[in-house]
Amino acid sequence: MDKFFINGQNRLVGEVKMDCAKNALLPILAGSIMVEGEVLLKNVPLYKDVLAMIEILKNLGAKIIWQGKNLFIDSTNIHKCEISHELASPVRSSIFTLGPILARIGKAKVAYPGGCNIGLRPIDLHLQGLRDLGCKINEKNGYIYGQKEKRIKHDISLKFPSVGATENIMMFATLFDGETRIYNPAKEPEIVDLAKFLNKCGAKIKGAGSDLIVINGVKKLHGVNYKVIYDRIECGTFLIAGAMNGGELVLKNCDFTHNLVLIEKLRSCGCKIYCEKGKINIIAPKKLKSFGEIETEVYPGFPTDLQSQMVTLATISKGRSLIFENLFESRFNYVAELLKMGCDIKFKSSVCVVNGKDNLYGADVSATDLRGGASLVLAGLVAEGYTTISNVNLIERGYFDFDKKLKKLGADIKRI
Ligand code: UD1
Repeated sequence: MDKFFINGQNRLVGEVKMDCAKNALLPILAGSIMVEGEVLLKNVPLYKDVLAMIEILKNLGAKIIWQGKNLFIDSTNIHKCEISHELASPVRSSIFTLGPILARIGKAKVAYPGGCNIGLRPIDLHLQGLRDLGCKINEKNGYIYGQKEKRIKHDISLKFPSVGATENIMMFATLFDGETRIYNPAKEPEIVDLAKFLNKCGAKIKGAGSDLIVINGVKKLHGVNYKVIYDRIECGTFLIAGAMNGGELVLKNCDFTHNLVLIEKLRSCGCKIYCEKGKINIIAPKKLKSFGEIETEVYPGFPTDLQSQMVTLATISKGRSLIFENLFESRFNYVAELLKMGCDIKFKSSVCVVNGKDNLYGADVSATDLRGGASLVLAGLVAEGYTTISNVNLIERGYFDFDKKLKKLGADIKRI
């Protein structure tokens, strides 16, 4: 298993380009199951999660061709409706295929999804939504069995605005005869991007990004060329890395409007941040101040996927910081690893209290999940001495060329 080896305390300076959003690509890949014709997704980074989804599509019968970083998917002849445990367990997003397979083929047998170990991550809202619309769903021996039947309801009201449930229900409703209304849907930019992709394929979806999504079912979707939005979590991670290193970075290929809450928090720590279309410039102070308090919330609130990076930033900021995690109950697993680097962090269930230190020191640590793993890299970059981070494969589920991009900015980081 590969490791990152970091010699800390180099200042990060320069320009870095963001990649396409993992969390937009994954549901779009699932959505492509419903398309009869060729989908071309441009400039797709080789995230490990994307590669796992592509294996699923291939297994269902889709033709996949890579031309450089352009990905061609042709699901015209999809015939299988079953996803095995081996294929489903590496990624959470395997569950996104349930709605599309049911919509396209009428029946599905999909194993429970895997993904990052950050909590229980139930799928009850996905299944309830599909049941309410008119699917018969049974769970048995680690598999979800689905059968499309006659429509029961037009109105789905989510008791929590789950990203995955919104996407699954929206995709199923795309090819389901009649009007579907999703109340209290998730409003993340990735939901908007999925709706934009499906609409370009011929779907009739209105209201994505608002409190009500209305979908009018169509008979068929056709092929398209599509460019997925940029990754706001990768962008946030680089902004935090720059802030922690007293750095001066220009982030390109990004949408600052997707990271407004983070940008305000970093400004409150003393960073100067200038935004324009497609570009963010951060100039960090020598010593950061505490950001005070952060609570993770659904979009447009502070994203849970940047929680661990902000805890790491707090470990070297002057003063005390509080971080409340409201979405996933086991999302502080990485803290045990950070403690090995000399941090002062206390945590109890969903709250972390961090007292900032002047210095962290290098240590041998291990990534516990994707974002927690990235945070250990951020800690290694500011720590005194050498840090090795194992389980790099977890980080590469959602960061592409992370080490190469950091190296270009001046970090002393190697893969070993
Ligand atoms: C997606 C993102 C993930 C991000 C999360 C929250 C992808 C591939 N992953 O995950 O990176 O951290 O949104 O922004 O897009 N819940 C239920 N029942 C359900 C579904 C969810 O109780 O059926 C709960 C979850 O336990 C969690 C909360 O809802 O507490 C949010 O989950 P959800 O929005 O569904 O996140 P994911 O789609 O899994």
